[in-house]
Amino acid sequence: MHGFVRKPRSQRESELLEASARLLPAAVTASSFSPEHAMVVESAQGCRIRDASGNEYIDYLMGSGPLLLGHAHPAVVEAVRQRAELGSSYLLVNENAIELAQGIVDTVPCAEKVCFNNSGSESTFFALRIARAFTGREKCLKFEGAFHGMNDYALMGNQWTSPPVDFPHPVPNSAGIPRAVQEQVLIGPWNDLETTEKIIEAHADELAAIIVEPMQRTFPPAPGFLEGLRDLTHRHGIVLIFDEVVTGFRLALGGAQEYYGVVPDLAAVCKGIASGYPISVLCGRSDMMDLADPRHLAQGDHVRMTGTFSGGSIACAAALATLGELRKEGVYPGLFAQGRKLMEGLGRSLTRSGIPHQITGEPPAFQPWFSAEVVTNFRQAITADPAMGARFSALLVDHGILKAHEKFFISTAHGDDEIEQTLAVFDAVADLLAQAG
Ligand SMILES: Cc1ncc(COP(=O)(O)O)c(C=O)c1O
Repeated sequence: MHGFVRKPRSQRESELLEASARLLPAAVTASSFSPEHAMVVESAQGCRIRDASGNEYIDYLMGSGPLLLGHAHPAVVEAVRQRAELGSSYLLVNENAIELAQGIVDTVPCAEKVCFNNSGSESTFFALRIARAFTGREKCLKFEGAFHGMNDYALMGNQWTSPPVDFPHPVPNSAGIPRAVQEQVLIGPWNDLETTEKIIEAHADELAAIIVEPMQRTFPPAPGFLEGLRDLTHRHGIVLIFDEVVTGFRLALGGAQEYYGVVPDLAAVCKGIASGYPISVLCGRSDMMDLADPRHLAQGDHVRMTGTFSGGSIACAAALATLGELRKEGVYPGLFAQGRKLMEGLGRSLTRSGIPHQITGEPPAFQPWFSAEVVTNFRQAITADPAMGARFSALLVDHGILKAHEKFFISTAHGDDEIEQTLAVFDAVADLLAQAG
């Protein structure tokens, strides 16, 4: 791997990239990297991913997190193959969905009832809708820098390119978000309980929900922060929502709520559950989730949240197979051990080359920052050197390692060989970064 030489872009890949730019305005594959490093994926297996020019990379992008078992895990592929022969979409409930719901209730601490959706953005959106219906209040509070997906309520205060404004004012991070929605969102400072408490107390009567990534991006909660939010939400009758789209099944089988020991009222869980098949889960307290039961129609507090593809049997089959693998002995210790080796090794390489840095996160998902100062939230993170971060990611690609500009995602498919190869690349890339200044 250290001898990896990236093949030049083939004619075919160039043509595909041109077509993608012409046809797909939000082409994910093209926009994640600089034009020079854009690629079209040909296939992926385990922790390896191949582009259309014949380059094979060790993958730490991992589809932005869902591939906890690696790409195309045999148990998942087999489950999907078997299920596909039995039809794809019924709208009606099916046995896989019921079995999966039971699996989630058995593993996720807050889960008494379950609803299936198709994406993280949908589940956070529905969680906020339930909270508003349950409390009869309209506002929600989210934290600066947190990402809860693409719905209009979520897409505020998280654009890493907008300059910070005073709390609790929201900055919409997309054109097209109605002002009326913006007026319903408050922004708090992550890991600053004192300021957050003041905002909550000033708006307690209007606040339906606090939505939080329990590990925000890669910033773990400060000691007592999640517990403090739990106390405040209990005290003021506010629904506490954990966005576990990334942390669910990644930090532990029961997600961040198990890992950090704080149980929310509702949780959106998505990426870790189905090895890349489109399903997400909204789960939580029965008295809140039950508002989705049509029997509430008569009472006027029915929350509508169904969808054509929700709980589809193929995605549920993928999720059941994934859950079966994740339940096996040694999975989480293995995931943490590999991640820890990488976190520590990256730190060693950067220190040896004299590059100021911080590494944040937990071993299954972490991220380097090129900053001499401690980074625990968005405001500190924007003082880090983004150009160095982009150079680092680009150099990794040139050395056969794929990651996005943000996190390293570890999977059970990352074996000792790949970890050793990656550590050698860290040394080489740290040297190059230091030479470039
Ligand atoms: C914490 C978090 N919440 C929500 C989402 C949105 O999920 P989706 O892309 O499935 O809509 C993401 C996506 O990256 C996320 O990281």
